[in-house]
Amino acid sequence: MKNFIWRHLFVPLDLKNMNLLKSRRCHLTHLTFVFIKLPALLKIILSGFILISMNACNISKKNNNSPPINEVMSQASLSEQGKKIFRFDTFGDETLWTGQLKLNEVIRSSIDPKTALAVGLKVDSEVLPASVINGIQDGSISLTNPDTTVALIKLNSIVGIIGTVESIEGKDTLTKVGVSCALCHSTVDNSFAPGIGKRLDGWANRDLNPGAIIALSPVLTAAQKLVYNSWGKGRYDPRFNQDGINGPQVIPPAYGLNGINRITSTGDGENIAYWNRYVGVTQMGGHGTFFDSRTGVNVTNGNDDLISSKLPALQAYQLSLEAPPAPANSFDTEAALRGKSIFEGAAKCTKCHSGILFTDANDRLHPSSDIVSEPEPNGVPSYASRSATKQYRTAPLRGLWQHPPYFHNGTALTLLDVVRTYNRKQLLGLKEKEISDLVEYLKSL
Ligand code: HEC
Ligand code: HEC
Repeated sequence: MKNFIWRHLFVPLDLKNMNLLKSRRCHLTHLTFVFIKLPALLKIILSGFILISMNACNISKKNNNSPPINEVMSQASLSEQGKKIFRFDTFGDETLWTGQLKLNEVIRSSIDPKTALAVGLKVDSEVLPASVINGIQDGSISLTNPDTTVALIKLNSIVGIIGTVESIEGKDTLTKVGVSCALCHSTVDNSFAPGIGKRLDGWANRDLNPGAIIALSPVLTAAQKLVYNSWGKGRYDPRFNQDGINGPQVIPPAYGLNGINRITSTGDGENIAYWNRYVGVTQMGGHGTFFDSRTGVNVTNGNDDLISSKLPALQAYQLSLEAPPAPANSFDTEAALRGKSIFEGAAKCTKCHSGILFTDANDRLHPSSDIVSEPEPNGVPSYASRSATKQYRTAPLRGLWQHPPYFHNGTALTLLDVVRTYNRKQLLGLKEKEISDLVEYLKSL
């Protein structure tokens, strides 16, 4: 049934709508045509859906901010494609992770699942067959044998690690490995065991130690390994291999970005696709080209382009990811209410954290002198100075509870640290009670 709806409704609409992405009209005639072809029961089910959609279409005629039905539907299917790309596409980056770094050899010879979990890799329990689940539970599947890691990769269950497993002399062998966006920007809900559960896309993997993973490569020099091993969990420097400076950033969430037209902590791109191309090519090693005259970064991998055509869908998927609401009972409601007035009043936070997304990013960026998270630790040059804009974007604040530590460089370990830092550096004169109320408010966003 699901496939039927997919083939008969979404696919034809999608093909037609590919050309209409920029159009602001409603194409209900096409929808009607598809509808007539459907069996009776489906028509009844779909009527409700279409009524709601027509309503959305009518509303959109009045309101330029809401796209008409054809756009809503093609966005939905674009986003569905984008989800697959986000989770599973390597853009051909095996050239880097296998061809150059030879990580397939390291994984198959020495990375057992225990080690993989210890460097923060996550396992998607939803794709594990019952036999594997039972085997892990009763101990008959070893978590200290690298062959199990290869088996998990073959099942496509290690989040962000995409491998090719071939039988060589009767043994399953990892012949190729690459990474996807989900490596850093997805985690799991630990519902099966720590590190094993259902995927949470867009949630930064703050347990992941990308530097330690890269440093496993046998082809790096001791000096390079020293840098990669210095980053630690949840941090990655997305410019080190371009400018040679070692100043790791906290891996940010990829959710809650709909409506924000400045991407990354320095607002380098006006849309997500800008940065996705940057990371896909210059960091993941995907095939394609990235060029920005502002930073002089100019990288081409391979003779083919495996990334450009995927950027619209990838962006649509990320825009569909909402920041997770604060869990019930995770903050004191009354204190949070008082904290809200302090945020908007005495603490002057709304000077920059304005509007429903808590950021003025669409209007302006800020010089380093405006922010409280510099100087960078360890005498590293300002992160802004390494960027295209040389400035910072006011961070959006939804879902804050989910992703400590805070600021681009992770210098505030908790929300209390954040507020104390503002209080001290911006001479706000907040009292202890006001500080704790403000923290409760931030926890609620
Ligand atoms: C190795 C880890 C890693 C991988 C893989 C990775 N990213 Fe990121 N991502 C980062 C870091 C670190 C930043 C912070 C950069 C900054 O703010 O300057 C970032 C920033 C972002 C942002 C900006 C968030 C914001 O608040 O504006 C988005 C969106 C994003 N990444 C999406 C992706 C997508 C999509 C992919 C796959 C094409 C990807 N990332 C691959 C580490 C990673
Ligand atoms: C002058 C503009 C400005 C003001 C005023 C301001 N902020 Fe910020 N805020 C920023 C910028 C810019 C960043 C990003 C800094 C960075 O990443 O290092 C930020 C980052 C943050 C973060 C970290 C978000 C994250 O995802 O790591 C929090 C929390 C925060 N601000 C809370 C507040 C609170 C609370 C106040 C009021 C006491 C406040 N801010 C006042 C501009 C401002």
